[in-house]
Amino acid sequence: MSSKIVIETPAIAKIGNKFAELGRQKKVVVLYDKNTAGLFEKSISEQLEKDGFIFHNLIVPASEASKSFRMAYRLYGEMLEREVDRSWSVVAVGGGVVGDLGGFIAASFMRGVPVVQVPTTLLAMTDSAIGGKVAINHPMGKNMIGFFHEPVLILIDPNYLRTLPNREIFGGLAEVLKYALILDGSFLDFMEDNFQEISTLVSPYIDEAVKRSVNAKVKVVTEDFRETTGLRAILNFGHTFGHSLEKLSNYKALRHGEAVLVGMACATQLSMKIGNISSEDAERICAMIQKFPYPKRLIKKYFLDVAPETIIENMRSDKKKEGKHIRFALLKRIGNAYLHREEIAKEDIIFAIEAAKPLFA
Ligand SMILES: NC(=O)c1ccc[n+]([C@@H]2O[C@H](COP(=O)([O-])OP(=O)(O)OC[C@H]3O[C@@H](n4cnc5c(N)ncnc54)[C@H](O)[C@@H]3O)[C@@H](O)[C@H]2O)c1
Ligand SMILES: [Zn+2]
Repeated sequence: MSSKIVIETPAIAKIGNKFAELGRQKKVVVLYDKNTAGLFEKSISEQLEKDGFIFHNLIVPASEASKSFRMAYRLYGEMLEREVDRSWSVVAVGGGVVGDLGGFIAASFMRGVPVVQVPTTLLAMTDSAIGGKVAINHPMGKNMIGFFHEPVLILIDPNYLRTLPNREIFGGLAEVLKYALILDGSFLDFMEDNFQEISTLVSPYIDEAVKRSVNAKVKVVTEDFRETTGLRAILNFGHTFGHSLEKLSNYKALRHGEAVLVGMACATQLSMKIGNISSEDAERICAMIQKFPYPKRLIKKYFLDVAPETIIENMRSDKKKEGKHIRFALLKRIGNAYLHREEIAKEDIIFAIEAAKPLFA
């Protein structure tokens, strides 16, 4: 898988050679959202022209609402009007919204055409662009309609992050921290030593953080592509709690990474309560979590002021649960996570939520 992932500046310069290697015709539909079009359309179009591509640009609003069937339908129409056929590929330039939508239309258009992911947010570079999960939302639930559609190429240019708002950077960094906690203890050392540099996008620290995260995600999804063995489930560390907070905030107010940050604090407490990680490890994790800025008013409203029972209730519709009880990804120690398959007593979950609250008080 790593052969098709390019991490460098400018990554887009590789697209011509990579298409030749892949034996694909140089015909692409390039999907942007309003923001990524404003930032990157010009330079990407120039590169495509230089490399002799035929291309059409499609632009959608920069909003989670673009991950809809209506939008996909509109895009199919635009592609058909321009006589796009199976010899074309889709290139998705943006955050997870554009990546998921672009992947979705690629997976379904004329029974499937290849997709190239060009992630432009930290979350997309380290998470959503890798692993082949693509989806749109249904009014009944987020990401409910989708495919496993592996990108043929992933072009990651950390330089694209320079225009990203701070909230998006720290949201992505929460996922970066997740990889360190679940898979790579030495990565946590690296984050502890260089947090300031990473979070202000200083090279080569940010590049290194992106690379290590990508490696972690690749490792997990290669071993468990379709989420059958339970390994991929460790990527949900902090997410069962986090999804509940996101749901409480109607998937609007809180960013995913902010909810996951709180969720990781809860999951760490739960790991300790279940008798896995030591209190020293837990303290290290909490200290790292506390380095993250977070929207105080929103965390108060959707976490501190919410009864633990309500948080637990809102976990239940999490699609990742299997069977009757909720399963949690927990830590054995830093760098080692597992899926806890047995039922966990409600009192223990409540305890974990209460124990995490002071970190955000
Ligand atoms: N497929 C997966 O495996 C997977 C995993 C995690 C999340 N997701 C999905 O990803 C989505 C969230 O992705 P996201 O956090 O990247 O959000 P996003 O795509 O909404 O991007 C966040 C904002 O940043 C803007 N932006 C993007 N790149 C920029 C840049 N370089 N500079 C300035 N602004 C930029 C976007 O226009 C948008 O306004 C959700 O829909 C979620 O369901 C998918
Ligand atoms: Zn996540």
